[in-house]
Amino acid sequence: MPGTIGILTGGGDAPGLNAVIRAVVTTAIGQYGMRVIGIEHGFEGLLGETQTHELTTADVRGLLPRGGTILGTRNRGRFVDRDSNGRAIRVDALYHEATENLRRLGIDALVVLGGEGTLAIAQEFGRLGIPVVGVPKTIDNDLACTELTFGFITALDIATDALDRLHTTAESHDRVMILEVMGRNTGWIALHSGIAGGADVILIPEIPFTMQSVADRIRARDEAGSNFSIIVAAEGAIETGHDLIYQDTGDPLHAPRLGGIGSYCQRNLEALTGKETRTVVLGHLQRGGRPNAFDRMLATNYGTCAVRAVVEGKQSVMVALQAGDVITVPIYQAIANVKTVPPNGQLVRTARDTGISFGAPDEAQHHRPNSKSGETVSACG
Ligand code: F6P
Repeated sequence: MPGTIGILTGGGDAPGLNAVIRAVVTTAIGQYGMRVIGIEHGFEGLLGETQTHELTTADVRGLLPRGGTILGTRNRGRFVDRDSNGRAIRVDALYHEATENLRRLGIDALVVLGGEGTLAIAQEFGRLGIPVVGVPKTIDNDLACTELTFGFITALDIATDALDRLHTTAESHDRVMILEVMGRNTGWIALHSGIAGGADVILIPEIPFTMQSVADRIRARDEAGSNFSIIVAAEGAIETGHDLIYQDTGDPLHAPRLGGIGSYCQRNLEALTGKETRTVVLGHLQRGGRPNAFDRMLATNYGTCAVRAVVEGKQSVMVALQAGDVITVPIYQAIANVKTVPPNGQLVRTARDTGISFGAPDEAQHHRPNSKSGETVSACG
């Protein structure tokens, strides 16, 4: 059995990171008598002088509700470089330096809390012979092989609360209100919060939209006496025939950052409908602060199961939620493809059946019973 576990958090933070750290520390020390070393600032803490410190049960007291990560995190570290074609390449010298440091620190196995980018680095450490167990973290819920990543349900609560609040102001002013949410190139946050928050239009990357279809829905609502509309737009939503919309960071060398779909829709919809429209970009509010009860529970379950996987000698696996149970899956499977919203899946159909539009040009078809586009949808239950 490994005597010492190293633990690190990588990529964007998500509510529940500290709850996982707490679960790993209490289980590893309390149940198995192991030592736990916290590695700071993601994998970066393994380079140079190294930034690590031993974690005791006293260090993790009170961590369950605390947002962020006590270990710090890095979004784009030095471990992945890009070739001239933009393809990710492994920087071998850094991996060599980091594995040497792991040996020097006496770390026998790594527990890595991260999304697809961080887990891809973890997979490389696995290839170099370091036992690695991943824990699926991201508010985007876009990791394959797991039904849920921790942080996602808290982000949903925040987005849904925002939609509730936008409803009352939209209705008071007869306005269109657009909520831009995160999610990278997937629409999980937009779809789930849009249904929970009673949006009229949901725009997601998996279903390209046209501005005309969205404007038609707003007009139809006005004609039916509802003089306001609520739109939730995923940051990666795509208008048919157009490109993704990125923020202008003012730095051409900076990796492109999604953002701006909300104000883009606002300009175009105001022109098409003549209605006053406002945009709210929810941004990092979706990631900051306390995890909700579900994420605290899921994070704790993931953390303890990750330690058990280390003890059982599992290598290069990720803990994952499938059919209500936490199991382990190979990391390479989890990072092979991003998990996207099935455009003909049950939840999209549920949204359409309750009158929500996705702004698709063929939207009307989806409302006809036994329509062709509805045939691929599995029955409920
Ligand atoms: O992956 C999590 C996420 O919050 C995405 O939804 C978003 O596109 C991105 O990170 C934002 O990253 P940053 O913190 O670098 O602005």
